[in-house]
Amino acid sequence: MSESSLDFLFDRRSILHFKDEEIPQDVLNKVLVAAQRASAPGGTLTGGYRGAQPISIIVVKDKARRAQLNEMLCEGRKVSIQEAPVSLIFCVDTHRLNRWAAVEGGESHFSGMGVLWVSLRAVYTAAQNSVIAAEAMGLGSQYIQEIVWQPHTALDFFELPKQVMPVTMLILGYPSERPPLAPTLPLEAIVHEETYHDPSDDDLIAYYADKEVYFQNWVKNLPVDSKLRKHIEKKGVETLAQFVSQVTYTESFYRWRDDMIKINLAVSELE
Ligand SMILES: Cc1cc2nc3c(=O)[nH]c(=O)nc-3n(C[C@H](O)[C@H](O)[C@H](O)COP(=O)(O)O)c2cc1C
Repeated sequence: MSESSLDFLFDRRSILHFKDEEIPQDVLNKVLVAAQRASAPGGTLTGGYRGAQPISIIVVKDKARRAQLNEMLCEGRKVSIQEAPVSLIFCVDTHRLNRWAAVEGGESHFSGMGVLWVSLRAVYTAAQNSVIAAEAMGLGSQYIQEIVWQPHTALDFFELPKQVMPVTMLILGYPSERPPLAPTLPLEAIVHEETYHDPSDDDLIAYYADKEVYFQNWVKNLPVDSKLRKHIEKKGVETLAQFVSQVTYTESFYRWRDDMIKINLAVSELE
């Protein structure tokens, strides 16, 4: 592959709005094969056997079910799941693994944090392979994390057996928008040659400068009477770091997330 043929990847951006156009089954199959072929932990036999692939992908295409999913998950952004012709729900699946072990005279002991850790890695490599394959074929995608915050509803909606837990979700379709590229940290911020290099305070500020500019523009364009702008002003928030830590990803928000993760594990009986 030539360097320029990677441009599609370097130019990738999340897509929230889609054309009213189906994804042909052969194109969708390639997105799914990319997930199937992803690196997967656990290949201990010589040559590797792609581990036990403790993942399942639920494909939702039905229009009414997509609308339901939208309602269920994305109150703030009502249209996206509905607009995208396909949703893929990537799940940790140790249910199949345990059943297989039992059927083949093995031991169904696949549960707990170690197995979960391995399975999560398999889910994310598969999901990101799908993102890349989709992008390469002119499709757009967006991760929707909200699937994790509705464990009981997801269990019913997808008729999940125990030990199958949704981890993330992708919506896919032909883009009807081209949003600006999201700013990224510079390479020197995330790449360390040989050993870890702790940045100076000035370096840190420089690393986040592009994101800061993005944030300041975003705040500037918030409507004067918007609730969020008033909240930001009331809190005295002036920088992105303050916004991220004091408005969006607050300590109490993370405590709530901790609880939700525990509920997910309990509901799926994966602890
Ligand atoms: C695991 C994962 C979960 C994500 N979940 C959400 C989400 O729930 N909602 C959302 O708007 N974006 C979500 N994103 C997308 C990021 O917001 C997006 O990738 C990031 O802002 C960079 O933008 P880009 O994808 O356009 O480069 C998620 C991304 C990842 C990798």
